[in-house]
Amino acid sequence: MKRISRKEWSTLESTKFEKIHSEVFTDAEEASVIVAHEIAALIRYKTEKNEKCVLGLATGSSPIKVYKELIRLHKEEGLSFRNVVSFNLDEYYGLAKEDVQSYIYFMHHHLFDHVDILPENINIPDGKAPFEFMSEACTQYEEKIESYGGLDFQLLGIGRTGHIGFNEPGSKINSTTRMITLDHLTIQDNAFAFDSMADVPTKAVTMGVGTILKAKRVVILAWGMKKAEIVKKTVEGEMSSNVPATFLQEHSDVSFVMDESASQQLTRIQTPWLVGECEWTDALKRKAVVWLSQKVNKPILKLTDRHYNDNSMSDILGEGGSYAVNIKMFNHFQHTITGWPGGKPNADDSHRPERANPAKKRIIIFSPHPDDDVISMGGTFLRLVDQGHEVHVAYQTSGNIAVADHETYRFAEFAKNLYEYAAGEKADDKVFDKLFKQIKAGANKEVLPVEVRKIKGLIRRGEAISACRYYGIPDSQVHYLDLPFYETGKVEKNPLGTADVQIIKNLIEEIKPHQIYAAGDLADPHGTHEVCLKGIFAAVDQLKTEKFMKDCWMWLYRGAWHEFPIDEIEMAVPISPEELLKKRVAIWRHQSQKDGVVFQGEDDREFWQRSEDRNRQTAHEYDELGLAEYEAVEGFVRHHFM
Ligand code: F6R
Repeated sequence: MKRISRKEWSTLESTKFEKIHSEVFTDAEEASVIVAHEIAALIRYKTEKNEKCVLGLATGSSPIKVYKELIRLHKEEGLSFRNVVSFNLDEYYGLAKEDVQSYIYFMHHHLFDHVDILPENINIPDGKAPFEFMSEACTQYEEKIESYGGLDFQLLGIGRTGHIGFNEPGSKINSTTRMITLDHLTIQDNAFAFDSMADVPTKAVTMGVGTILKAKRVVILAWGMKKAEIVKKTVEGEMSSNVPATFLQEHSDVSFVMDESASQQLTRIQTPWLVGECEWTDALKRKAVVWLSQKVNKPILKLTDRHYNDNSMSDILGEGGSYAVNIKMFNHFQHTITGWPGGKPNADDSHRPERANPAKKRIIIFSPHPDDDVISMGGTFLRLVDQGHEVHVAYQTSGNIAVADHETYRFAEFAKNLYEYAAGEKADDKVFDKLFKQIKAGANKEVLPVEVRKIKGLIRRGEAISACRYYGIPDSQVHYLDLPFYETGKVEKNPLGTADVQIIKNLIEEIKPHQIYAAGDLADPHGTHEVCLKGIFAAVDQLKTEKFMKDCWMWLYRGAWHEFPIDEIEMAVPISPEELLKKRVAIWRHQSQKDGVVFQGEDDREFWQRSEDRNRQTAHEYDELGLAEYEAVEGFVRHHFM
C-alpha cells in the first residue's frame, strides 16, 4: 500500500475527525517495512552529510518487525549504523542487563546485536541506578540527548492506557525523563513476559512527553484490535493528560502508522457514511444497518426513512425506502442462523449457510491450543458430533508453556507415586529427582528444558482428550500436531516453517474434510493463533487443486477474546441452555487453564466465563435486531480459498 502524505491526508473529507496524520496498512509486516525504510533513508542521508543520526527507540511488540527489517537492510543491503546514536524511551526500575525482561536485553536481542552500532552510542535509562541518584541520572539523560542536538526521529508504540514511553495517564505535556509508577493496566499487559503480575516491576524510568515532543519526527505504531480503542481516542479525542498520547496532536511532524485491525474504530473506517460519500457495498450496508439499529435502539423492521436520513444513510434507500431495505437486511440476518452447522439433511439449503449434502460430513476442527476448540466453538462442536458427522480435532500446538510449574511438579510426583504403587518397587531416584530438579530450575530459565516441556505438553493432551471423550468423539479422531514453530520453550515463537505447513497438509490430505474450522482470531496476545491460521491457509493453498478440496468449505471462528462483528457473521449457531452447560463442563476439563492461568491477559474472568458472556452477548445482539431470542450464539465467517 502506498503511503498517504500528511498534505494529502489533510485534504481528505474522510479524515476530518482525525487530529493526527494516520496511515492504515493491510498488516503490520507491510507497515513495518515502510517505517524501517524511512529510518534507513534518514540514516543514509545523515551518513552522507557526515552527521550523527539520533534515533529514539522503543521496545515492546510493536517495533519488532521494524527492527527485523532494519537488520535485513544491514545484512543484505549494506545499511550501516556506525553513525547512529540511540536513546531508548524507557527501562523498568530494578532490572539489569542480564534480566531477560529488561529493555536493555530486549534491544540487544532484537536489534543491537545484529547491526554495527557502536556500543558507546547506545543509551538506555539505567534501571539499576540507586534510587537517590535517579533524579540526577534522568537530568543527565535529557542533557545527553540535547548534546546531540535532540532526537532526529522517535519511534513509539502505544499502551492501552494511552501511554507513550511509560508516560502513564496524568503525565504532563512538558514532562521530562523521570521515574514513574506503572498503571495497573500496563502491568497486566506486560505480565506475559514475567512469571506473574506480581513479578512485573511497578516502577520505570521514562523519557517525558516533552522529551518526545522535541523530536524532529515522530512515528507511532499500533497493531491489532486490542489497540483500536486507544487509537481512536488518541487520533480523534480531545487532548488531555488522561491520554498522554493525545499530546502528539501538538507535534508538527508525526505519523500514526497502524494496521487495519487497529484502525477499526476510526470514524472513517467504523462509520464512513458519517464522513462523506461512500461506496455502498452489501457488506457496508449490513454494517450500517446494524449500527443504526443499535444507535436508535430499534429492531431492524422498525427503522424508518427518518432514522436513515437523520444518520447520513439516506443514500442506501432505494425506491422501496426503508421498508424494502429493512426486509432485505432482516432476511439476510435471519438466514445466517442455523441449528445445523454441518448442513440440514434433506432440506432446501438455498437460504442456509451450509450445504445439505453430503448429509454426513468429515470435519476437522483446528484448535491452535488444546482448548480453543471448546472455548470458542464448543456449542457448535457438540452439535456437529450429535448430528452424526465425523468430527476430527487437530490441536496445532502443544500449549506446553501455559502450564504452571506447580502443576507440572504435582503431575511428576503423581507419576512417581503411581509407578511405585503399581510396580510395587521404589522408583529410580535418578530419573525422578532429575525431573524434579529440572522443573524447579526451569522456572528461572529463559528456555524451558525439553523434558519439562514434555510433561507440560502431556498434561494438556490429557485434558484435551478428556474433553473430546466427554463430547463423544473416538480417541482416533483426536490429533496432536505439536507444530515445531511453537516448540521454542519460551513465549517468543519461531516463524511458520515448511515443516509446520507439511504437518497440517498431511492431516487434511488424510481426512479429506468437507468442512474445516479454523481460529480466525488475531487478538491472541502471543500471535500463536495468527501463525496457526497462516499455516492452515498455506496448506489449503497448496492443496486447492486436489479434487476433494472442491467439496471443502472453511469456517473461521474467533478465540476467547472477541466475537466477529454481527454484520460479518455468516453462520450463527444457537446454543441451548443445556448445551451451554455441557460446553462449560468441556472447558473445565482443561484444568491446568483454570483458576488463574499462566497467561491470564487483561481479563481476569475464567475462560468459560469469557466464552459464555461472549456467546450470550451475541445472542442478545441478534435479539435486539429483532431476530429470535436464544440463550447463546456462536458466530462464524466463511473463508473462500478457491
Ligand atoms: C516501550 C514503551 C511502551 C510501549 C507500549 C506498547 O519502550 O515505551 O510505551 O511502546 O507499551 O507496547 P506493545 O508494543 O508491546 O504493545
